[in-house]
Amino acid sequence: MISPTWTAVDDYLESHLIPDDDATAGALAATRAAGLPDIAVSPTQGKLLETYALLVRARRVLEFGTLGGYSAIWLARALPDDGRLITFELDPHHAAVARANLDAAGIGPKVDIRVGAAADLIAGLDGEDPFDLTFIDADKAGNVGYFRAALRHSRVGAVIVVDNVVRNGAIAAPSDDPGAAGSRAVIEEAAHEARVSATVVQTVGRKGYDGFLVAVVTG
Ligand code: SAH
Ligand code: DHB
Ligand code: MG
Repeated sequence: MISPTWTAVDDYLESHLIPDDDATAGALAATRAAGLPDIAVSPTQGKLLETYALLVRARRVLEFGTLGGYSAIWLARALPDDGRLITFELDPHHAAVARANLDAAGIGPKVDIRVGAAADLIAGLDGEDPFDLTFIDADKAGNVGYFRAALRHSRVGAVIVVDNVVRNGAIAAPSDDPGAAGSRAVIEEAAHEARVSATVVQTVGRKGYDGFLVAVVTG
């Protein structure tokens, strides 16, 4: 269910907070035109990711699930010129669309798109400098493994954000949504993990009713 009020409020917020953003609007249009699913974060959510990156003064960001590069544009734009975003994408077609979108947005050199199953790509992070922010938004069954990997590769003070953990309320009700189990698992992992402090922000808007897990690495 998506309330017309939620969408109207997103329209209002976007008109003030996110006006004339050709890079992100162009990426969304090109992603749709290439036939990719319309499941990127919303504009206000993308700007929230940018805000988190600025809050932690991020220089190095990790992302699970690139799709057409929409959230990657928000994250990479928050980085200094020598900053770096590494983003994992299973589908080579999605990765190609994202590559074109990021290059068109003028932030291509900051973004390293790695193609494959995220679970396999994690090993390639050994030897990399730690990350300041991780955005987890790939297959929901993988959430716990991605969260553990993100934590292993985070500096103290880093933030880890997991998308889609509320799922129209399915996490708190009997549900056959296969993503609900992955969401509950990562919430419970964060709750039990002594090295993070975590909460969940419930969200409504043009994408419906969902939420972000937000964790800060404390030790
Ligand atoms: N973060 C993007 C949306 C990602 S949609 C945005 O907001 O703009 C989820 C993406 O994860 C899809 O492109 C899908 O192909 C990818 N994905 C699914 N399973 C994956 C896996 N096991 N490893 C890496 N990527 C995966
Ligand atoms: C879906 C995936 C997402 O990451 C999202 O934010 C919304 C929807 C999906 O697979 O349907
Ligand atoms: Mg998502």
